[in-house]
Formats: sequence, C-alpha cells, structure tokens
Amino acid sequence: MKRLADARGAIHFIAVHLAQLRLRDFRNYARLDADFAPGFHVLLGDNAQGKTNILEAVYLMATLRSFRGVGGAQMIRHGAKGYFVGGNVVGRGDHEIKMYWALRERKLSLDGQAVKKLGDYFGALRTVVFCTEDLQLVKGTARARRRFMDLLLAQTQPGYLPLLQRYMHTVRARNALLKQSRQGGTDEGALESFSAELVRFGNEIIRARRELAPKFSPLARLAYRRISNNAEELRIEYQPSVRNDFAVELAQSRAREKNFRATLVGPHRDDLQLLLNEKSAAQFGSEGQKRTLAIALKMAQAEYLAGIHGSPPILLIDDVMGELDVKRRSGFLPLLEHARKACGQVFMTATEENWPSELGKDLQRWQVQTGTLKRF
Ligand SMILES: Nc1ncnc2c1ncn2[C@@H]1O[C@H](COP(=O)(O)OP(=O)(O)O)[C@@H](O)[C@H]1O
Ligand SMILES: [Mg+2]
Repeated sequence: MKRLADARGAIHFIAVHLAQLRLRDFRNYARLDADFAPGFHVLLGDNAQGKTNILEAVYLMATLRSFRGVGGAQMIRHGAKGYFVGGNVVGRGDHEIKMYWALRERKLSLDGQAVKKLGDYFGALRTVVFCTEDLQLVKGTARARRRFMDLLLAQTQPGYLPLLQRYMHTVRARNALLKQSRQGGTDEGALESFSAELVRFGNEIIRARRELAPKFSPLARLAYRRISNNAEELRIEYQPSVRNDFAVELAQSRAREKNFRATLVGPHRDDLQLLLNEKSAAQFGSEGQKRTLAIALKMAQAEYLAGIHGSPPILLIDDVMGELDVKRRSGFLPLLEHARKACGQVFMTATEENWPSELGKDLQRWQVQTGTLKRF
C-alpha cells in the first residue's frame, strides 16, 4: 500500500483532488471554469439549478459514464452540438483530462495524449458517488449489485474491465447463436468454442469477485454499524450463479437453454446478498435501513479504494443529508470527518444547510444558480 509515514510514524494518505473543472455546453452550463481547493465543498442552491450536473460531470470524468444512467446525448446542452468536460487532477502525478462528446465525434485525452486503452485511463481520477439511485443497490435487481462489484474491481484491478468486456461479448455472441437455433439445429461446433471461452473468462471473473467479498464485507459492516449506531449487523455474501464447476453446470443447463435460448449460468447471473441480522435487507429491511445500507456500501467502497491506492477517492454526495433522519445524519458525519482528515476532497449538494453544526467548520460554500457557480 502506498502510504507515507512521517517522522513519528503516523500514516498519511496522499491527497488527490480535482483542482479545476471546465465545462462547455454540458447540461445547463454553457461555460464553467472553476478552481477547487482540497477539502469540503458544499454546493447550495434551489432545485433544478445545476448542482447535481456538476457532480455528474466529475463522475463522468472518472468513470466515463453518468451516474444517472443516461447516454451522452442527454448531457449535451439543449441546442448545442456536443459537450466538453475537462479537469486538472492534482496529487500523486498530476493529470489533465479532456473529453468531448458529440453524436458523430468523441475525443478523450489524458495529459494531452489521446486515450487508446481505457485501462490506462481509469485511475487518473477516482470518485465514489452517493445519490438517491443508490437505493437500487438494495431494492433493485441483482444487476445493480453486479455493477457495483464490477466498478469496484475495475477501479482496483487494471485487467478487470477488459476481462468483463470480453466475457459479456461472449455471452452475447453465445446467446445470438442459441437464438438462431430455431431455424434447423444449432451449430454445435461454434457453440462449443463459445462455451469454452465463456468458462475461461467467467472463471476469472468469479475468482476476482470471490476474493473481493471477504475484504469488502468487513468495511461495509463497520460503516453500517457507525451510521446506524450498532442497530443491526450487516453481512454481505457473494452469491455466484456457478456453484462448483462452471463447465459442468453449463453443460447441465443445455436442456433449459434450448427452451430459453439464452445462457443461463455464469457470472452475468451473480448476485451479492445483503443481510441485516441474517435476514435479506431487500425483503425485510425498513426504508431507513435500506438507505443506511446503501450509504454504508458506498462508504465501504471509498475506504476500500483509499486502502488500495493510498489516497481517498473524491466523494460526490448528492442530496443525501435530506434523506436521513437526524440520528442517522449524525452517524454519517464521522465518516465525512474521516474523509476530511485523510485530506480528501468532498463535493456535497444541498438545498439548505440542514446538517449538525459540527460539519459547519471549514466548509467551502458555493452558490449554484441557473448554471452558474459562485463562491460565497
Ligand atoms: N441537456 C440539457 N441542456 C440544458 N439544460 C439541461 C440539460 N439537462 C438538464 N438541464 C437542466 O439542468 C437543470 C437541472 O440540473 P440539476 O443539476 O439536476 O439540478 P439540481 O440543482 O436540482 O441538482 C434543469 O434546469 C434542467 O432543465
Ligand atoms: Mg440535484
């Protein structure tokens, strides 16, 4: 782990922060140039002013996707041809990120060089977002939880994303073949070679996910305990679709595949079980417990990344305070304090300052109003 120890042996994280953000024709920002210091930033403003849009832009630079789950076209300012999002990341190795997205033209550069391999790009900027959609991690389908695992693995293992892409490509190709089988028999030779590939890539994904769970689970348990004041115990268990042997189980599913015309076993069917006092949180948890759990997962994600990379990710917190009751809000605070002490950078949106006053010190306040950002 890359952490620095000072003369007294105290361990310090290396601060990485977004020093500058530039937007052109992004959402309701025609033009934005903002400089940000490390530390705690609060974006304040009424509804529909552009607070979340800022977080979306920062997250987009880090992950190349919107946390709102929309495509590029929606983020282009109405009437414009394309958007530009750029930024300078300062910390261990400074980076300049530039991205331009239009329907017919896409450009992504890191430090003045066009990005060829995405594996080289991820890592320049790491973020963890907290938003209302996080509740889907608990309430939604297994897909949301697989995505969560995959993002965590992509953020910590350079080879994971290409591996996942190859696996998903194979699943799609194999499914297409199974669908064709309606017209006179399947091409068994082709199916066999896809199956072999599926098993090879799939086993690697399963191994990565299996190794992640026991490292991640204790962090999430601790975060949940802190926010909920030890109300319940959280346990997270990886629930792979493959029980023992992928190749054997795939072969055994052949008869069912003929009916469904799709690949029915494999890591694309995995799940992550979330248990509160050994009961499914999705089925038995209260609304408040589910929200707390979603936040705990994100906090654990941030801690996991900080531990591996030696610098905390930038936290993007969208409207979260408003969703927690007073007690849980004050449980959330120590976690933010922790981020602050680690010299991280936090961006938090709110319509009003409705958090306990302890958090009030050293805040950097920004007023967001119809696509403009002003320090106050
Ligand atoms: N592609 C777009 N072009 C122009 N304006 C947009 C676009 N997408 C969203 N907006 C505007 O952005 C505003 C919402 O921004 P948002 O950041 O979600 O607000 P909030 O401050 O409530 O978080 C709305 O006024 C909406 O009309
Ligand atoms: Mg918002």
